[in-house]
Amino acid sequence: MKIGSILVCLFWSISLSSARQLSKSHLKALQLKAAERFTASKQPARLAAAPSGTRVKNITFHNPKASSFYVDGKGIPEVDFDIGPSWSGLIPISGNANETRKLFFWFFPPGPEGSLDDLIFWTNGGPGCSSLEGLLQENGPFSWSFGQAKPTVNEFSWTNLSSILFVEQPVGTGFSQGKPNIKNEDDLAAQLAGFLEQFLTVFSELKGKKFYLAGESYAGMYLPYIANYIYTHPGQLDLDLQGFWVADPVVSWDVVQEQIPAVPFVHKYEHVFAFNQTFLAHLDQRAEACGYAGYMDEFVTYPPKGLLPLPGGSTEGPDGCDLWDEIFDAALTVNPAFNIYRIFDTFPILWDVLGFPGSFPQTQTTPLYFDRADVKAAINAPVNVTWVECSDINVFPKGDASLPPSFTVLPSVIQKSKRSMIVHGLADFILIAEGTRIAIQNMTWGGMQGFQTPIANDSFIVDGVGALGNTHSERGFTYVEVALSGHMVPQFSPIAAFQTMQFVMGFRQTP
Ligand SMILES: *[C@@H]1O[C@H](CO)[C@@H](O)[C@H](O)[C@H]1NC(C)=O
Ligand SMILES: *[C@@H]1O[C@H](CO)[C@@H](O)[C@H](O)[C@H]1NC(C)=O
Ligand SMILES: *[C@@H]1O[C@H](CO)[C@@H](O)[C@H](O)[C@H]1NC(C)=O
Ligand SMILES: *[C@@H]1O[C@H](CO)[C@@H](O)[C@H](O)[C@H]1NC(C)=O
Ligand SMILES: *[C@@H]1O[C@H](CO)[C@@H](O)[C@H](O)[C@H]1NC(C)=O
Ligand SMILES: *[C@@H]1O[C@H](CO)[C@@H](O)[C@H](O)[C@H]1NC(C)=O
Ligand SMILES: *[C@@H]1O[C@H](CO)[C@@H](O)[C@H](O)[C@H]1NC(C)=O
Repeated sequence: MKIGSILVCLFWSISLSSARQLSKSHLKALQLKAAERFTASKQPARLAAAPSGTRVKNITFHNPKASSFYVDGKGIPEVDFDIGPSWSGLIPISGNANETRKLFFWFFPPGPEGSLDDLIFWTNGGPGCSSLEGLLQENGPFSWSFGQAKPTVNEFSWTNLSSILFVEQPVGTGFSQGKPNIKNEDDLAAQLAGFLEQFLTVFSELKGKKFYLAGESYAGMYLPYIANYIYTHPGQLDLDLQGFWVADPVVSWDVVQEQIPAVPFVHKYEHVFAFNQTFLAHLDQRAEACGYAGYMDEFVTYPPKGLLPLPGGSTEGPDGCDLWDEIFDAALTVNPAFNIYRIFDTFPILWDVLGFPGSFPQTQTTPLYFDRADVKAAINAPVNVTWVECSDINVFPKGDASLPPSFTVLPSVIQKSKRSMIVHGLADFILIAEGTRIAIQNMTWGGMQGFQTPIANDSFIVDGVGALGNTHSERGFTYVEVALSGHMVPQFSPIAAFQTMQFVMGFRQTP
């Protein structure tokens, strides 16, 4: 008893003298200071990327048809500020009078700091997920992201770079109209090019612009094939394709982008997964048996020693070696809020106005934002479509017959582009950055296979922030890994997305 009370006293006095007196106001001051540092990193001087001669204050379209697509920037439901002029609606994928297939687009002219000479095309992935997600939660001029009470101005809007065209494609996605009938990525590219042709007849002031393809995820399939289509059909589109930017893309087999790197990923983030030791040992033993263990060290070298092997010689991975699913399942046991798109998520699960809940049911108090009648009316969207973020129907009715682009068109597209980039969030588990490194080291472009020299650590420097990951460029192709970012890089690391896009557009010398 006596000893006990002495100990208690000691402990009490120690904790009194050493406890940090973190008052609420002190915490708040620290946070404000950090917020100021972050704000300083996006001073207009840094965002003012476009050469001054090309900056615009306004854009007007002379074709009278354009006015039927005009969107009143002061009339966007729940948005309590003027988003400026924009144009949206449905445009057919061909000039045939009987054409029933139409894609929904929303076009934004550049903001005051943007360039009038350039045009960015944005698509989300899926397949069948709406590009309005990118608009509202990633790189559009206003944001309504998970957990936000209402829309806010997006200081990192890509309208600060140039014009941007968000398109819901392919047919079957979002508000688009008509029956999907594409068999592969070449069909997808041909339909999109048809749409763009029709778009340019209405918005002909955009003809001749320097053009950039951008997107994420399954757009890793779309974009290289779209670029390939444009490069191999010169003259069809009056646009000057410069290159592409794609985040966390599908470019190879699942075994490459998910299975081989899955267990190393778990070890890298052991404290985030919080698996028990028995399960970790089990994973190591499975990785060994499946031929995944040690793969990165042995084969992902700079330069590569030769073509990289597939474990078990199979594009599906060896039998019984779906470790990625086993990890996902265990992660959901430990943390039911586990989010494959950003592994740091824990309870509570944030409400999402676009209702893409991943694996979780969510309560919506109103229809999904783009399914609201007032929103549809404001943006010239068809009122008879029930909008969902990712389509319930298959936009490739019989599947996508195209091979992953790193085995087909990606090398030639890189060679034909001025600059091209893959960006990868390091906290993404649905597609794992190290798997993308495998795909890159196995790909031959510009006469050589893979990167010849290593990707230096801490080489991705964000202005005003410092090192935030790793980057490497060779032969017109740049790869960037973004620390702390999940799958949707412009959403989770808007500053990194903005800066890397500036590089792709030639507005800055380093990514
Ligand atoms: C970037 O765009 C946003 C939204 O349009 C705007 O509020 C912000 O001022 C812009 N920043 C710069 C530096 O142009
Ligand atoms: C931009 O153009 C539109 C349409 O011609 C016009 O109504 C608007 O006032 C212009 N805005 C600016 C800032 O010049
Ligand atoms: C639609 O029109 C095009 C060109 O005018 C024609 O080739 C095509 O067969 C028509 N399709 C249908 C379903 O009528
Ligand atoms: C590497 O490329 C070769 C040739 O395209 C292919 O046969 C092999 O399966 C690829 N390896 C991986 C790991 O993707
Ligand atoms: C360890 O984790 C695995 C996978 O989640 C689970 O099946 C097992 O029950 C866990 N063991 C303990 C002691 O919690
Ligand atoms: C919606 O309306 C448009 C035009 O009024 C029509 O062409 C289309 O078939 C309709 N879609 C559905 C799903 O009813
Ligand atoms: C980068 O850091 C990792 C982890 O510490 C290390 O394994 C790797 O060798 C480093 N890469 C380079 C190029 O130095």
